[in-house]
Amino acid sequence: MDFGAVFHVQPQAGRCVSRPDAPSRLERRQMASPFAAFGAGARARPFVAMAGIAAACLLTGCASFEREEPMNRAMTAWPTLDGKAPIVIAHRGASGERPEHTLAAYALAIDEGADVIEPDLVLTKDGVLVARHDRYLSTTTDVADRPEFASRRRPNDDPADGPREDWWVEDFTLAELKTLRARQPFPGRSKAFDDLYEVPTFEEVLDLARRKSKEKSRPVGVYPETKHPGFFASIGRDFERPLLEALAGFSAGPVFIQSFEPEILKRLRNQTQARLVQLVFEETPGAGPNIPLADIAAYADGVGAAKALLNHPADDIGGGFVRAAHAQGLFVHFWTFRDDAPPAATAHPADEYAPYFAGGADGVFSDFPATAIAARVKAARP
Ligand code: G3P
Ligand code: CA
Repeated sequence: MDFGAVFHVQPQAGRCVSRPDAPSRLERRQMASPFAAFGAGARARPFVAMAGIAAACLLTGCASFEREEPMNRAMTAWPTLDGKAPIVIAHRGASGERPEHTLAAYALAIDEGADVIEPDLVLTKDGVLVARHDRYLSTTTDVADRPEFASRRRPNDDPADGPREDWWVEDFTLAELKTLRARQPFPGRSKAFDDLYEVPTFEEVLDLARRKSKEKSRPVGVYPETKHPGFFASIGRDFERPLLEALAGFSAGPVFIQSFEPEILKRLRNQTQARLVQLVFEETPGAGPNIPLADIAAYADGVGAAKALLNHPADDIGGGFVRAAHAQGLFVHFWTFRDDAPPAATAHPADEYAPYFAGGADGVFSDFPATAIAARVKAARP
């Protein structure tokens, strides 16, 4: 099975060629894998037409997959945009069980069956993309216990962010950052794996995905989030070039690029065929998405939505927001599912996923991918 890519990478020759037998978009949607619709872009992109197939292949993972996950062969139909199984996205890796954004957390997530791993990305002093949720380092590393870095503690200089005294990733070279060790930031989660793992670069995350994809004989996708791209641009650090360079030739699985900031997605639109995902949330309960779906549809392929949006606008069966997004051609991936923070009414953490799968979610971000996989299996039963 081809997982929707219209181009094949020719690793030996190092070039891409068009496939005359490539499936149509409709055919891709009819395929049984959750990755069926996640190859080439969902809509025509002017840059790609102009620059041609070769350039498109250089800038994105022009993946060819011939594998199929056994579970999905039994699927009939899901209320997703493409009718296929929703994807499970390991949120910061299996971050409920290992310190977030470490290779150990991502590897465990893949072992648990996650389809895609999610690195949040920030930039070091020397312009290297590394996986951290925040620009500040004190909550997820041992930096506060390192006397050699004590003098680097300072106030936040991003006026768009809240006031905070901390250590900031943009003040550290990659070599300095590599001396730190990762820690579990969430109270109540195991600290047994603290101080064992480095902060990984994005390149290292991609290498892990490649290695695990080969080991598992299945696709492993990546879902990088550009954190604070506007701020990093303001201090002269460019997100797009290192991001696109790192992703060039990545073919272990589908690629999604997400951001809360629309500007970077709009700029990336004509530079990549990776799926672009606008993150949305409700600024006040019941207000609906902070960016109108019709606006998003002009530059993105999907939305990464806060869970509360599922029932906006409310209707008799729920999932009104998903239907509205699907009507715009946008897929919907909901965040964030956490075993240790389920809704009060939920008897078991896996139960929380059921209304999202029934409501047409195309994917879920979970700190506990094993629970998400179990919930998907349960939802797939006739
Ligand atoms: O990227 C989806 C979700 O992760 C957004 O929230 O703060 O966990 O990155 P955050
Ligand atoms: Ca994220």
